Amino acid sequence: MGLAGLGLAGCGVRARGQALGVARGDGPADGLGEVARARGITFGTAVQGELLGQDPLYAAAVATEAQLLVPEWEAKWDALQPREGEFDLGPLGVVAEFARAQRKQLRGHALVWHQAMPDWLAPALAEGATRARGVLAAHIQAVLGATQPVIRDWDVVNEVLANPPGSRFTAQTPARGVFRDTPWLRALGPDYIDLALRLARERDPTLRLTINDYGLEGDTPWAEQKRQAMLALVRALLQARCPLDAVGLQAHLQVDEPFRPEPLAGFIQGLRGMGLAVLITELDCRESANLPPGLEARDAAVAAYVQQVVGTALAAGCRTVLTWGLSDRDSWLIRDPDVSRRDGQQHRGHPLDAAFRRKAMWQALARSFAGG
Ligand code: XIL
Repeated sequence: MGLAGLGLAGCGVRARGQALGVARGDGPADGLGEVARARGITFGTAVQGELLGQDPLYAAAVATEAQLLVPEWEAKWDALQPREGEFDLGPLGVVAEFARAQRKQLRGHALVWHQAMPDWLAPALAEGATRARGVLAAHIQAVLGATQPVIRDWDVVNEVLANPPGSRFTAQTPARGVFRDTPWLRALGPDYIDLALRLARERDPTLRLTINDYGLEGDTPWAEQKRQAMLALVRALLQARCPLDAVGLQAHLQVDEPFRPEPLAGFIQGLRGMGLAVLITELDCRESANLPPGLEARDAAVAAYVQQVVGTALAAGCRTVLTWGLSDRDSWLIRDPDVSRRDGQQHRGHPLDAAFRRKAMWQALARSFAGG
């Protein structure tokens, strides 16, 4: 397949982050990563490789605040294998090089997902199970072969569960039983989950294998159903002796969603009881449909909500927290029509504001990490 030299070290990307000034902002000198590390917790963020290279303020904020990075796009299928058999590790290499230069850890996202699929992929999967298995194996082989030296934790499967009836996502998410209806499911049935995990373990025996999903945090009937579906899936995989190490809770939170600590804590403890680690992988927070007046009140509402959820998760034994970006400026919450506001306002759902100043959510995370 001509994959020789795919290693990230050979991608020719120059270190750009070495001489970064450290943006101290208006809080204590330490970034969130340091505050967390003092308590044995790892804090990280999703990053965009292009901004790391081009925007010193952005790069400095990442360098200051995060210990762990995950590429927002660069490790998805359409980035890694835009044409069948042609792997492009350039964009991921930019992120990996920044991580190396700044001594940050890196996690991978995502080996199997129903979005960010290159044009050729769904038609290939539709050709049948044998072809689908081949395509999956080739991708996992090539990608993990290249990333093994630098990525020790991957979201192997992302968003495989359906949203239960009644959830606010139901209209956009066709389901087959508890599973999301995707080209992978249509080609291989739910076994694709088991297969992806086994292929990953085979290729990289000490890699942490994570199942990642959203909508698992709230106190609603449908979130509870989704939690039960996740517990059942994990139980079934473990019973089948399928390798699995962790569950990622995306935690794309919404201030308007009811929350109570007990359901989330019980869920996390249930997963930990089965021997798995639990991570918060994509934390951000959409604001209320009815915004309180003034930025201070808005930020306080986000901070209070985030602190409840993160505090609960940490108390239940979660030891890794990543936000889906650090600043409001670069977030999908303002870019993506599915999640952005329709009233002309922009969500303030990240620890830093659009000018990279620390907000109440930053303080809430710092307090949660410090155990307060
Ligand atoms: C999002 C990106 O942030 C967007 O820019 C992109 O348009 C769509 O994907 N769950 C995930 C992430 O697992 O990969 C998604 O990232 C956000 C939801």
